[in-house]
Amino acid sequence: MRTIVFALLAVAVACSPGLKIIGGYDCPPNSQPWQVYLTFNGEPWCGGSLINERWVVSAAHCKIPASNLTVHLGEHNVNVEEGTEQRIGAEKVIPHPDYNDQPFNNDFMLIKLKEPAIFNECVNFNVFHIIFFTDGNPSVLQCLKLPVLSKQQCVRAYGSRITENMFCAGFMKGGKDSCQGDSGGPIVCNGELRGVVSWGKGCAEQGYPGVYVEVCLPSISIGTVMTKFLC
Ligand SMILES: *[C@@H]1O[C@H](CO)[C@@H](O)[C@H](O)[C@H]1NC(C)=O
Repeated sequence: MRTIVFALLAVAVACSPGLKIIGGYDCPPNSQPWQVYLTFNGEPWCGGSLINERWVVSAAHCKIPASNLTVHLGEHNVNVEEGTEQRIGAEKVIPHPDYNDQPFNNDFMLIKLKEPAIFNECVNFNVFHIIFFTDGNPSVLQCLKLPVLSKQQCVRAYGSRITENMFCAGFMKGGKDSCQGDSGGPIVCNGELRGVVSWGKGCAEQGYPGVYVEVCLPSISIGTVMTKFLC
């Protein structure tokens, strides 16, 4: 799931469960070493980003009890044991204290790993390019390059549901987007984790780009840096 909005609005027809990033391409193996795949009692659940050896960022709407959550690092093809995987249980999950699932505001969560990740060429927290995550089907991690849209375009699509800590990215004409299963995964730009996959109406629908949680430093105003993020 990208968000419950899909179910509530019943607009998920363009994106049946299990379908993830739309219009993306296979990431080069282990080119996204910060990428995390979350499972819930062993079932595909959400995405996330490694931000240091002990912590992962994901979306608050992906919250489940820590004991039922496993963090998978170093995945490329989730159906193949490639020898690069690290699987670490969650010690605790900390959703943003002001997360509110009505407008999906502050859809942001930290996950503490039970033990530290071991960094290597497949598992790391360094980031570059603009990329996000898929899990499950297709089984190979998908990448997609997409522009950050203006606040105005975002508000035109979703109205007052867009809060100041959200931004839109994607294509107003549709066709390429994140989707259910990508939730919590990273959107990375110019070497920095820029956002977390949060919600949207349907997937890749014309006029409805994906909505992301802004995770930039508060001192960075999305308004002033917008053009720099047209990666
Ligand atoms: C979490 O896992 C425990 C033990 O496997 C299980 O009893 C419980 O129902 C699970 N919780 C959820 C929310 O699935």
